[in-house]
Amino acid sequence: MLAHNRIAVMHGVNLDQLGRRDSAHYGELDLARLEQSIGEWARELGLEPTFFQTNFEGEFVEHLHRLDGIADGILLNPGAWTHYSWAIRDALEIAALPAVEVHLSDVDGREDFRRLSVIGDLCFATVKGQGPDGYREALSMLHGRLSEGS
Ligand code: DQA
Repeated sequence: MLAHNRIAVMHGVNLDQLGRRDSAHYGELDLARLEQSIGEWARELGLEPTFFQTNFEGEFVEHLHRLDGIADGILLNPGAWTHYSWAIRDALEIAALPAVEVHLSDVDGREDFRRLSVIGDLCFATVKGQGPDGYREALSMLHGRLSEGS
């Protein structure tokens, strides 16, 4: 068992609407079922996930502020904020934890504005276009990174 195994799983704007969004990009799962799968995959790896979603940018920022001492790694999908929220970028930098960015859809194959991630260089990996399975890969990467430190 890892000594540092607490993962903050953070979903941003509009991700509470999974299940109602374009299934060609986001599949059929709603957020509750996605979080359930993430929870199962995390626990298989010996990770302890906690879940957070908000549609309010300041709440997302404040959640990042609060992670000090209560999380060892971050798995985040900020939704559209990924592409323009410098405030979330700054908060992620303050959190100073190993982080993986995940996108359900293939953001590089869609509209131009989705190609820019303002958080990408603060994350040690980005997983995109793999649907829910991408979260499993991201958890495995976080597990690998946290194992290095223990
Ligand atoms: C997303 C991709 C973003 O461009 C979009 O705004 C989202 C979801 C994804 O998971 O594919 O809301 O982050």
